[in-house]
Amino acid sequence: MILYFSGTGNSRYVACCIADYTEDDAPVSLGDRIRAEDCSPIVSPRPVVIVTPTYAWRIPRIVEQHLRKTRFEGDRRVYFVMTCGEDVGNAAKPLEKLCRDMGLTFMGLGSVVMPENYIAMFDVPNKHRADEIVRHAQPTISTLSHAIAQEQPFPKSAGGALGGIKSGIVNRCFYPLFVSARGFRYTEKCNGCGLCEKVCPLDNVYLAGNRPRWSIRCTHCMACINLCPQGAIEYKKASVGKPRYHLAPPAGGEK
Ligand SMILES: Cc1cc2nc3c(=O)[nH]c(=O)nc-3n(C[C@H](O)[C@H](O)[C@H](O)COP(=O)(O)O)c2cc1C
Repeated sequence: MILYFSGTGNSRYVACCIADYTEDDAPVSLGDRIRAEDCSPIVSPRPVVIVTPTYAWRIPRIVEQHLRKTRFEGDRRVYFVMTCGEDVGNAAKPLEKLCRDMGLTFMGLGSVVMPENYIAMFDVPNKHRADEIVRHAQPTISTLSHAIAQEQPFPKSAGGALGGIKSGIVNRCFYPLFVSARGFRYTEKCNGCGLCEKVCPLDNVYLAGNRPRWSIRCTHCMACINLCPQGAIEYKKASVGKPRYHLAPPAGGEK
């Protein structure tokens, strides 16, 4: 079984590519499970594959919290695949611990560099550059898919001392310092279509008077701002004038 969490589509795209290669069923959205507070057991006859974005050099905290509440039945081997704009630090170490705590077998962490989506903090690529990055990611996705199909562990990735700092102390400081919905606002371009409400994996956006409001359960996935068809959402001043980024599933990808 392939599970994914995705704000702007990169991790869903990679999950679909892996499912296609390994002839697995359509990937299951962890966002949908988290939204529905669905912690029903994950039952898989083959190793489970979990695909997520990188948030401050670890898997998103909300995903880890959800996994810790979920029972895994059947095959207890788990692969992690993290999409990232640049690097995943030493995310493997906390994932090994997660698996140990849950009695799962850690089959390794694979990382795939995909287009950056953190528009609240960095630049995101334009369409042309994003297409290039996605094309460049294909061999890595194939190599990881091949290992999964063969049920071989991923090669060990060395995070190094700096990786340890990023995935450790920096990650812990990141959430209280930066992750808040307070910076989001809509502009006069908003036509009240409500897509922002639909795409929020945490049910944190709602419409009031036909305009978006943000509640307090935000994980900075950047779905609302990047997927708004009108480009009518901004994050403080950081996003003004920047292109928006999101990625559709591969052709025939969602099965
Ligand atoms: C809150 C946040 C934190 C991020 N932190 C990192 C990071 O530590 N390292 C990195 O390389 N990319 C980082 N990124 C970039 C994303 O991990 C990357 O663009 C990912 O592919 C997005 O996946 P998605 O489209 O499935 O949401 C971050 C993005 C967000 C929104």
